[in-house]
Amino acid sequence: MGENKHRDQKSLSVEKSNNKPIFSFYFSSSSPCSFTAIIILLIFFTYFLYSFSFITFLHPYSPSRISNSLLVPVMRLGSGQQPDEKTELKHIVFGIAASSSLWKRRSQYVKTWWKPNGEMKGFVWLDKPVNDTVSFPSWAFPEIKISSDTSSFKYRYRSGHRSAIRITRIVSETVRLLNGTESERHVRWIVMGDDDTVFFHENLLRVLRKYDHKQFYYIGAPSESHLQNLHQFSYGMAYGGGGFAISYPLAKALEKIQDRCIERYSDLYGSDDRIHACMAEIGVPLTREPGFHQFDVYGNLLGLLSVHPQVPLVSVHHLDVVEPIFPRTNRVDAVKRLMIPAKLDSASLLQQSICYDTARQWTMSISWGYTVHITRTYMPARMMEVPTRTFNDWHKRHDFTNVAFNTRPVTYTDCQRPRVFYLSRALNDSSSGTTISEYLRHNEWNPKCEWGIQDPSDINRIFVYKKPNPDRWNKAPRRDCCRLLPTTKKGTMVINVTACENDEIVAYSDK
Ligand SMILES: *[C@@H]1O[C@H](CO)[C@@H](O)[C@H](O)[C@H]1NC(C)=O
Ligand SMILES: *[C@@H]1O[C@H](CO)[C@@H](O)[C@H](O)[C@H]1NC(C)=O
Ligand SMILES: *[C@@H]1O[C@H](CO)[C@@H](O)[C@H](O)[C@H]1NC(C)=O
Ligand SMILES: *[C@@H]1O[C@H](CO)[C@@H](O)[C@H](O)[C@H]1NC(C)=O
Repeated sequence: MGENKHRDQKSLSVEKSNNKPIFSFYFSSSSPCSFTAIIILLIFFTYFLYSFSFITFLHPYSPSRISNSLLVPVMRLGSGQQPDEKTELKHIVFGIAASSSLWKRRSQYVKTWWKPNGEMKGFVWLDKPVNDTVSFPSWAFPEIKISSDTSSFKYRYRSGHRSAIRITRIVSETVRLLNGTESERHVRWIVMGDDDTVFFHENLLRVLRKYDHKQFYYIGAPSESHLQNLHQFSYGMAYGGGGFAISYPLAKALEKIQDRCIERYSDLYGSDDRIHACMAEIGVPLTREPGFHQFDVYGNLLGLLSVHPQVPLVSVHHLDVVEPIFPRTNRVDAVKRLMIPAKLDSASLLQQSICYDTARQWTMSISWGYTVHITRTYMPARMMEVPTRTFNDWHKRHDFTNVAFNTRPVTYTDCQRPRVFYLSRALNDSSSGTTISEYLRHNEWNPKCEWGIQDPSDINRIFVYKKPNPDRWNKAPRRDCCRLLPTTKKGTMVINVTACENDEIVAYSDK
């Protein structure tokens, strides 16, 4: 209704102006006197314009005409930083949401990514002190802080846990802790994560460097679960387990309102939806960075980690919920193994490349630093870049309309069941500046195939050569290309992964 009214008014005003065309007197005027006057006026006006532009043409950028302020680079010295200093670890303060009852076990995850001896800054927030100073020496872990009492806050979500209030307040407690300290002079971002979140810090830096930390930014990712995003939470919410980053000026603005804000949302479930509710009040939207992974899924992450989006891998979460990411090992050791390639070429970790073995009619898909899949026949790239359903949805229904992205079955026929090779070792060949990673075949169900195409199980070991590419995310995203290298060694495949040539494509036929 209101919309229609508005439109009516608009057309009315157009009609009005049509009745009195502004320039009509040039043509409709019949008086020769006014015609001459207009010509004179036109000539004068043209001359005026011409001479004005002539003056500016004569002195295009003569130094005398440029004010001094234009010659000096603009220095916006915010919190004691050089304007062009890249964001580094010292500019981040982590806030890790933890609990005293689980800290002993969960600290093992933190240990896989935390850089000790003050290289990283941050705090682990517990509900009460842990009685163990030997296992958690302060140099090796984030400093332990005990959250302040939250018993005066209302919490009305029926089946939730009121620790959500304690955890959501980590942001403002961190701001208060930093207030007036030397660390505050450096801090640009507060990065929140859970005790079972694993960060890949070089990629976190790559992502944060894209944004101006002096402005208000709330950066993270929604859940993999469509139902979670749609019903209980929001596509506009950064899920806390995947981790999120708040620029320091925004964290300070949040600190000012947070305690009153969360009282208005006492019926919400978690700590992260309380952050989201307060961000909505401030008016700051979520900046989505799909490298943060909440992983609201069950089962095996193989399908998801073998086809990562073309963005840097920033975090993984829920490692206690899913199976170990490498088979035949425990959860923590599996993460430690992924950290080996992460140190060699973090920017390319889990980045996919697809190529064909034309002699054997196989398709290879590499998730660098994690897996190689070999599948019989030529599978098109558009299929290979879709994650396979090795995992279950968050409601354990095997319902893939419940995930917020495309997926495909692991296989369509027995013959096309992929053989999966998992990373076993990775090293830097310093003489050539190339990384060499080794992937070993994981034995699983191996159905018979009558297609007359060689069984990829004949391969046991794959070596992948790849030069580190730390600058890849400063360019437009593009998948890497892979090429088979000749080898005479039986049961071994050697692959070279590089940036694609401009005209290089993944096509299974020239037609
Ligand atoms: C804390 O440690 C001390 C000394 O090891 C021990 O006597 C005490 O029982 C412990 N308390 C708790 C709550 O575990
Ligand atoms: C920071 O410290 C100053 C000086 O003590 C105080 O006035 C201010 O309220 C503090 N701000 C915060 C956010 O704690
Ligand atoms: C790998 O070796 C090269 C050449 O010696 C060296 O420049 C590079 O820093 C090494 N990379 C890593 C991650 O150790
Ligand atoms: C991999 O390919 C690149 C680019 O074509 C080449 O420079 C490099 O030598 C190759 N590596 C190996 C081990 O063949």
